Amino acid sequence: MRKKIVAGNWKMNTTLEEGVQLAKEVNEALATTEGVKCDVVICVPFTHLAIINQVIDKDRLGLGAENCADHLKGAYTGEVSAPMVASTGANYVILGHSERRQYYGETPEILKTKVNLALEEGLTPIFCIGEVLEQREDGSYLDVVKAQIEESLFDLDAEQFGKIILAYEPVWAIGTGKTATDDQAQEMHAFIRKVIADKYGKEVADNTSILYGGSCKPSNAAQLFAKPDVDGGLIGGASLKCADFMGIVNAF
Ligand code: PGA
Repeated sequence: MRKKIVAGNWKMNTTLEEGVQLAKEVNEALATTEGVKCDVVICVPFTHLAIINQVIDKDRLGLGAENCADHLKGAYTGEVSAPMVASTGANYVILGHSERRQYYGETPEILKTKVNLALEEGLTPIFCIGEVLEQREDGSYLDVVKAQIEESLFDLDAEQFGKIILAYEPVWAIGTGKTATDDQAQEMHAFIRKVIADKYGKEVADNTSILYGGSCKPSNAAQLFAKPDVDGGLIGGASLKCADFMGIVNAF
């Protein structure tokens, strides 16, 4: 059966010192919390990965990057490749976040390449999809999300696809304090699962974890996670405070 997962996305926040401190706090909180019912992951800036890898217990807390390059190696000044990410000890990588698509021009084709490179390195992609407000309002949101999945992921075979974690993040809910309702999330998550089932079959679809992201916080997590197709959350702002992040972990 699919995993329940709560993953933090720190984005471009924390100095190295602050990040190490936060990772230690989360690690310690998990060590002293009984009955944690989900996998917990933190996705952190590249600069923090190798050191945080040394201060956390990886059996308890997974570690991921927030992006990787669309090339394996070479003359791409400033980029960080999937093999570099893997060499830090990280196991996950967020790909296709709406901020990367919007501010850094990441196209479905680029994301397809990144997914392939990440999988080749044994990294688990947390692949983000989601519509903007206009698409929610004009009713095209289901088609938009279906196309995002098809364009970047549907060249994978079933075994490769089985390694992907999906994160549905309505762009209008990211960092806005405006959360999708639990019914809006469930509608989309069930739809995504059907899109996967139509392509790869029911078993693959049933085994795919689909996380919700967008202003998820301790006060709304339990209601969202209670929906049958919501398998956890990708948490931005609320992952930057240990107590808030643990409040979401404990919502399961
Ligand atoms: P948020 O961000 O929780 O701050 O809305 C979620 C995300 O962008 O992953």
